[in-house]
Amino acid sequence: MIMYSEVINFMINDVEEVLITQEEIKSKTKELGKMVTKDYSHSDTLILIGLLKGSVPFMACLMQEIDLYLETEFMDVSSYHGHKSTGEVKILKDLDVSIQGRDVLIVEDVVDTGTTLATIKKLLENRGAKSVKIITLVDKPGNRITDVDVDYVGFTLGNEFIIGFGLDYNEKYRNLNYIGILKKSVYTEEEVDG
Ligand code: IMP
Ligand code: MG
Repeated sequence: MIMYSEVINFMINDVEEVLITQEEIKSKTKELGKMVTKDYSHSDTLILIGLLKGSVPFMACLMQEIDLYLETEFMDVSSYHGHKSTGEVKILKDLDVSIQGRDVLIVEDVVDTGTTLATIKKLLENRGAKSVKIITLVDKPGNRITDVDVDYVGFTLGNEFIIGFGLDYNEKYRNLNYIGILKKSVYTEEEVDG
């Protein structure tokens, strides 16, 4: 007989180590929300642009901690396949609105090589935004290839491949409510298989 507890703990079997708990993420997000509220208190054009799909949980928490009139939009860009960067950025879904003259805050799950953010930032600046800043839940500065200014950082981590709270491995694990390191066996087994 399968016990209920075995079923609901399935994903944790693939996690090597929990790095950041849900409580730590919640309290950090609150802190970041306060900073953004203060820094943009004189702006009436703030627009948060979340990069799909990884930013969704962070975006949802963060926007509720910002006490300002703001708008939210999403873009979908891809630069990753599996756990290795391809070094290419493709726009899969563009913005539905103009950002001309607006204060843009790009919301990201993780800045790794920096290639995605550097490209998107330049693109949005070229569209006539008044300002373009970046907020990320996680920064992994050790993997940087392209230089990019990250204005607000939740947590700074090493080079490990992480999952959870929006971060995926081949589209899975985004729904974990914490951030953890994926067991190497999960992706090495898949590479051998496929
Ligand atoms: P960058 O262009 O290398 O900075 O890549 C940023 C994107 O790569 C993020 O938005 C993620 O989708 C993905 N990424 C980078 N590192 C990780 C990781 O450790 N786990 C899951 N996704 C990652
Ligand atoms: Mg992403």
